[in-house]
Amino acid sequence: MHPAADCPVDQLYQSQRYPAMSHPLADPAVTAVAARLGGLTTAPPRHARILEIGCASGHNLLPLARRWPHSEWIGIDLASKAVADARQLAAEAGIGNATFHAVDFREFEPDGEPFDFIIAHGVFSWVADEAKLALLEFCRRHLAPAGIATISFNVAAGWAQRLPVVAMVRALQDATGGELIATIELLHDAVDPATPHGVHVRWILEQMLTKGPDILPFDDFAPVNDPWPFDQFVLAAAHAGLRWLGESAPAENLPSALGDASRAALAPLAANPLLAQLAADFAAGRTFRSGVLCRADAPTQPGLTNEGLFDLAVRAGEALPTGADPLAQAFYQALAALAPHCVPLRELAATLPDVDRGALARLVFDGITRGLIHPRIEPLRFDPQPPERPCLDPLLLACARRGLPLVDVWHMPCSFPPAHYAVLVAMDGTRSRAGLAALAHARCPDLDFAPWLQHLAGRGFFAPHSA
Ligand SMILES: C[S@@+](CC[C@H](N)C(=O)[O-])C[C@H]1O[C@@H](n2cnc3c(N)ncnc32)[C@H](O)[C@@H]1O
Repeated sequence: MHPAADCPVDQLYQSQRYPAMSHPLADPAVTAVAARLGGLTTAPPRHARILEIGCASGHNLLPLARRWPHSEWIGIDLASKAVADARQLAAEAGIGNATFHAVDFREFEPDGEPFDFIIAHGVFSWVADEAKLALLEFCRRHLAPAGIATISFNVAAGWAQRLPVVAMVRALQDATGGELIATIELLHDAVDPATPHGVHVRWILEQMLTKGPDILPFDDFAPVNDPWPFDQFVLAAAHAGLRWLGESAPAENLPSALGDASRAALAPLAANPLLAQLAADFAAGRTFRSGVLCRADAPTQPGLTNEGLFDLAVRAGEALPTGADPLAQAFYQALAALAPHCVPLRELAATLPDVDRGALARLVFDGITRGLIHPRIEPLRFDPQPPERPCLDPLLLACARRGLPLVDVWHMPCSFPPAHYAVLVAMDGTRSRAGLAALAHARCPDLDFAPWLQHLAGRGFFAPHSA
């Protein structure tokens, strides 16, 4: 029998549509850097074999398959309707390098070579323990020797605080038969905001209300919602023959929410990395991790050399550092001048001819770990100006027709108010900017069209991209 056929997880995903999402932390252009920092050189994602487990309707997979037409993508999910949606979207968008299978991963026996990348985002914490362990073992069996698995999970340190609130809402709902959102609101109003307990519980309830009724049945109120502490995850992975390399986002190897004083307080724990991680998760109230794992026998090197760092591509983060260090000033100015492109660090370094390369490497490494620099395994350049006849590619147009979020060049989802979709679906290259402005004026008079169009162009929505 299908192992999940009588299980509430299967029933939920077969009966309700999971909202379409893309996950920048699952992007192989990003996770391949995390692997490099952990000492492993993966296959280049543009020529790789990649599997997504729990791919739902393909919203994460398809933009990546479109970005790299010479890579081979397989998506699997037990929700057959979601898989049918993914196939239809791929066909409509003319994406030929992605196939989808409606199957439980515990029954899936892939043909061909092992995978260079496996993505399992939003799966681990939402399935029973037996399936969690099977997921880790599946990754070990089907990863190439230098392959990586990106597995996200909910972290007990922060999530455990939410579970009693979930239990209380459920108990109220069971007793009153009330609707979920109304019950959360009722509890929110009942909690006294004048106490520290009340402040904390109301904050959790407000986060639930922000997520809203489309997400909550799959999130806080999912049939299985099982946060784990970091050490339990790492030990289970080791037992399955996998090794933790780091967080997908290097800036999250220590939670970015931790301030300087907390980091200094944790410094004495550096000799015991697992304990340091547990304490950091606790200090930050971390709720989520996206881990990059490799096979225990993967050909890792002790770490990334300075020259290895210069092989990466970089772009400016959202915040620029302040300070008077002349090297930092010169570097960050040069990086900001190149925005929005992501450029080879080696090329950027060549524009700063007199600098000490060792000092520059340290500066860049520090900037990456502090989130001031976003690294990628390959460069990406595009024209950030709107073209005379704005044209979304076939995948973006197909998503716009369905009212789904559009995925930008950095793999970030972008949602729009319903009225804006009338303008987005008209961006098929047949209308001029002035024609679209007139349409926007008629269909969504509140929309400030020119800056909106500029914003879309700045996120690469109209761009033929180049490396
Ligand atoms: C919370 S959703 C996450 C979807 C998507 N990966 C994301 O993060 O946006 C979990 C997905 O895993 C799928 N899933 C759960 N158990 C599975 C299993 N045993 N085999 C294959 N897919 C499974 C569900 O059908 C669902 O689409």
